[in-house]
Amino acid sequence: MLVHESAWMPTGLDPEVPSAARVYDYFLGGYHNLAVDREFAHRAQETMPDLPVILRTSRRFLRRAVHFLLDEGITQFLDLGSGIPTAGNVHEIAQAVAPHARVAYVDRDSVAIAHSALMLEKNANAVALRADLRRPRDVLHSDVVTDLLDLSQPVAVLMSAVLHFVESDAEAQSIVAGYRNAIAPGSFVVISQGTQETAGEQGEQVIRLYDETDSPFTARNRDQFTQLFKGLDLVDPGVVYVPQWRPESPDDVDEHPERSCAYGAIGRKPLY
Ligand SMILES: C[S@@+](CC[C@H](N)C(=O)[O-])C[C@H]1O[C@@H](n2cnc3c(N)ncnc32)[C@H](O)[C@@H]1O
Repeated sequence: MLVHESAWMPTGLDPEVPSAARVYDYFLGGYHNLAVDREFAHRAQETMPDLPVILRTSRRFLRRAVHFLLDEGITQFLDLGSGIPTAGNVHEIAQAVAPHARVAYVDRDSVAIAHSALMLEKNANAVALRADLRRPRDVLHSDVVTDLLDLSQPVAVLMSAVLHFVESDAEAQSIVAGYRNAIAPGSFVVISQGTQETAGEQGEQVIRLYDETDSPFTARNRDQFTQLFKGLDLVDPGVVYVPQWRPESPDDVDEHPERSCAYGAIGRKPLY
């Protein structure tokens, strides 16, 4: 399918700079990307041929996480760095099980939010907000979020494949703490992010390539990733490579989960 760029491209966008959101959209088979994004994606894939598989693996972790949260009775989701909508968006996964589940999408990318808003026009239980997740207070106090989510009740805060776009560990920890402190006890925080530990030289080269995009990439090792969950109780199986997080079928995990080059975990805010 060919969708003409002028039909969806927001004004004010720099067509010369690859966007992490649009590159991800391209890798997942979406159409909301520009020549500059596709050219970047091709170079990244030449450098690291497994990249599209790695990104789809990360997306499957998100789906399993949402299923787990629904099983735990969670019906409110704050999806930070939600990306350009593609197959298997959080509201689709959640509302298929719990039709009244509420989802607030947050992204700083104008294409991601324009397209999300369009898709959600007829969905009373899902909204999209253009904001920077690094400012938890602005996100949590935005009318768009507070009109939909009751933050006095448990909620799931999703940060899937996004904190690797925050450079410093201290800032990443303080962002998570900002959300953790504001949410009700019994709420959950889901995080996945890229690691260089198993990515080798190919991974280092792709990380350097991302410096050309609007979102430079910072990989984290297991310790740095685990530190993000301070003040939260890790849900079983704790910090693992994303395919190892409660696989639902043999398609979810093979004998080399480390090739996912990403850690994933879910933490729960203690009740007391
Ligand atoms: C790799 S995509 C992940 C999409 C989705 N969460 C998933 O797991 O499939 C990362 C998204 O995070 C967004 N992003 C990066 N930094 C952000 C920030 N500081 N605030 C809000 N969104 C951000 C990007 O625009 C992009 O859409």
